[in-house]
Amino acid sequence: MKDIILKLEENYFLSDEEFRLLIEDESEEILNFLNKRAEAVRKKVYGNAVYIRGLIEFTNYCKNDCYYCGIRKSNSQAERYRLTAEQILDCCETGYALGFRTFVLQGGEDGFFTDEKMVEIIKQIKNAYPDCALTLSIGERSYDSYKAFFDAGADRYLLRHETADCAHYSRLHPSNLSLENRMKCLYDLKKIGFQVGCGFMVGSPYQTTESIISDLKFIKELSPHMVGIGPFVPHNATPFKNFEQGSLNLTLKLLSIIRLMLPNVLLPATTALGTIDSMGREKGILAGANVVMPNLSPRDVRKKYLLYDNKICTGDEAAECILCMKNRMKSIGYEIVTNRGDHKKNITRSNIDYGRKSESNTECQ
Ligand code: 5AD
Ligand code: FES
Repeated sequence: MKDIILKLEENYFLSDEEFRLLIEDESEEILNFLNKRAEAVRKKVYGNAVYIRGLIEFTNYCKNDCYYCGIRKSNSQAERYRLTAEQILDCCETGYALGFRTFVLQGGEDGFFTDEKMVEIIKQIKNAYPDCALTLSIGERSYDSYKAFFDAGADRYLLRHETADCAHYSRLHPSNLSLENRMKCLYDLKKIGFQVGCGFMVGSPYQTTESIISDLKFIKELSPHMVGIGPFVPHNATPFKNFEQGSLNLTLKLLSIIRLMLPNVLLPATTALGTIDSMGREKGILAGANVVMPNLSPRDVRKKYLLYDNKICTGDEAAECILCMKNRMKSIGYEIVTNRGDHKKNITRSNIDYGRKSESNTECQ
């Protein structure tokens, strides 16, 4: 098994069979070895720096009904809210003072925030904080909408693909949502020039080793700047309320595999990982992750943006959260840095030239 790990480190990829063996292996010793190799690669590229992204959860309205998600439209228990442009700018102000230089605007797919409204908000933020990177995470939109957001100044876009296995995708989502469109969105975003992030949940219902292998192949093909993975955590008011949460060890294993596949990638130790284990984010960093995304949302709305149960940090002010995070990182020998943390290859808006790569993976039979 160690040979397979060294092969992954050397070739940045494995055969399906080798991936299967590695994913299904249950030895702690092998997991530790893999985590250590990934941490070494991460250290070579990023040293002991951990990048922070300030997450602003600006709306929990959503027109979608994904079976796993706590803010799905059918959850009538969710108390809905939207931040005003002014409130969003206040969050940025707080975040800026705390050292954040990347803001992530995340929300459900909320028709209230039309392209025009989003463009206005993007321009206001970029105008007030020209030295900051702005990331959007607002789901599926048209090519033209994405283009308008990019032209308004947005730099990055996070859209988890959720699973690269068609059959699995349709067990996680209602039939109006398709993997094909999801992937089209990701390629559109890339073509426009966004730094793109994809990702998936570990241990989501009906996930198999095969679906994880599809995820790894898709990630390799898309070659995104960022990959967000975290354990599935059930939410009590969703159809998946009785499913088990994803495993800590499998999440740590996949973080390491992704680090070895894409040494430069931005890889967050997610809030979901911190939710299933009180040291989850620290363990994630030690397995090769290099980003954390503390919450900058106003305290009174945090308990309303619940994608899953028992979410951490919902009672803390941004300042408390960042201090806590700094201490946590320090305790494992890492240090939070406050620059934009652009990709190591020095990618800037002007020198990106993405062609749309092979679309073979986007075909759903
Ligand atoms: N458990 C873990 N992650 C979830 N997400 C949504 N619901 C859950 C859940 N129950 C993730 C999805 C989405 C991201 C914003 O949060 O992957 O893309
Ligand atoms: Fe948010 Fe500790 S990181 S309170």
